[in-house]
Amino acid sequence: MTGSSRGIGAATAKRLAAAGAKVVVNFRSSSDEAESVAESIRENGGEALIQQADVTDPQAVDRMVATVEDEWGSVDILVNNANMPFEQAPFAEMSWESFRSKLDAELKSAFIVSKAVLPGMTEQGYGRAVYVSSSLGKQPQPGFIAHGTAKSGLNSFVKYLAQEYGEEGITANVVAPGLVETEGTKERVEHTREYVVESTPLNRITQPEDVAGTITALVNANTEFVTGTYTPVNGGSTME
Ligand SMILES: NC(=O)c1ccc[n+]([C@@H]2O[C@H](COP(=O)([O-])OP(=O)(O)OC[C@H]3O[C@@H](n4cnc5c(N)ncnc54)[C@H](OP(=O)(O)O)[C@@H]3O)[C@@H](O)[C@H]2O)c1
Repeated sequence: MTGSSRGIGAATAKRLAAAGAKVVVNFRSSSDEAESVAESIRENGGEALIQQADVTDPQAVDRMVATVEDEWGSVDILVNNANMPFEQAPFAEMSWESFRSKLDAELKSAFIVSKAVLPGMTEQGYGRAVYVSSSLGKQPQPGFIAHGTAKSGLNSFVKYLAQEYGEEGITANVVAPGLVETEGTKERVEHTREYVVESTPLNRITQPEDVAGTITALVNANTEFVTGTYTPVNGGSTME
């Protein structure tokens, strides 16, 4: 579970653990937060392994996966979630360097993490991979050109993985949240709460637990024949 010290990742790590998975709590710099996610999992009877690794660094990711395989034997589930930073600006003010850095980090991290776990999944003939995208990959909003374009690339990448790895018993799916209420989006949520709630059929702002529940559903036995899909998690504010 990449990027699980905070936000959607922390909620998903806890939810997967509650569903019986042994969970790797990966983080880049927030060790206290990662520790508290792992503690909460253990207090509730689950198993957690804390792993510091920058998911844009292939060696660090390989070390993390090797440690997990040593400890637990195999990686059955990948949740690619770590949040890559981006500049919020319109195209007119965006430099190539700023645009490129988001595309690079978003696709590089998904590429590196997938490269690290797919061989083991192929060997065991089983794997569930879920990638956290964003509704902004399909529905543009002002200032999100870098983020939206990167997530759109991620959506295609996952379809190719689903296509190439299906016969290995591996599924790959995308979940695409709308605006989710986390520490990082507090200000944006406060500015847009009324509009978002009014334009959401289920009548509230998306919570990290909503995304966690959807990811958990996509890795359990009931969805074993589901692959290459794109699932919005936004209370119906956009519909496919
Ligand atoms: N929040 C939203 O409104 C929203 C909406 C749609 C989609 N999403 C997507 O949901 C995912 C999670 O977003 P979030 O809002 O929950 O993020 P967040 O609250 O900002 O948390 C980000 C997590 O990613 C980790 N991380 C960042 N860079 C990393 C790196 N290089 N290597 C390893 N871990 C790294 C962070 O670790 P540290 O704590 O150590 O920095 C943290 O655990 C992202 O892919 C985001 O694009 C979010």
